[in-house]
Amino acid sequence: MAKSKPATAKRAGRRAATPSPQAAASAPGIDIGLSAAERRKIADGLSRFLADAYTLYLRTHSFHWNVTGPMFNTLHLMFETQYTEQWTALDLVAERIRALGFGAPGSYEAFQRLGSIPAEPAIGESSDWREMVRQLTVGNEAVCRTARKVLKTADDAGDDPSVDLMTQRLQVHEKNAWMLRSLLM
Ligand SMILES: [Fe+2]
Repeated sequence: MAKSKPATAKRAGRRAATPSPQAAASAPGIDIGLSAAERRKIADGLSRFLADAYTLYLRTHSFHWNVTGPMFNTLHLMFETQYTEQWTALDLVAERIRALGFGAPGSYEAFQRLGSIPAEPAIGESSDWREMVRQLTVGNEAVCRTARKVLKTADDAGDDPSVDLMTQRLQVHEKNAWMLRSLLM
């Protein structure tokens, strides 16, 4: 038994020195029928959309935490429904950017640089629920404007999956804006 150990180690060493077919293969370039310039332009737009969508998601979730007043139950639940749906969609957008061959932004610094949603006064526990609803109404509409721009870019390039994704996001955020605005009428 003791003699077999060095022999086993030698065989293992020889195997490790021989490259496997998998190790020799390198990743092929992306060739999905869109030019690199088209993919970059769409991914840049989707990154801006991701920044706006993430900012709106965070604002909606924080209002779920901080809302007070006679509308508490309605708004606490409404905001939860919205931020949960938005959270799921963030993943789809980020992974679409990856499928186009680019890195997805994922830091507050990047989202601040890329985003278009204007900064609003900080909202805490004492804020009026109507101000929260106003901020989310205009926030959803800002996300819609960004989605519409990206949709046009993707459509011009014939990138149907990105067109489809932005169409779905437009439907959701336009509906959110309508429902939120209705609370203030
Ligand atoms: Fe909660």
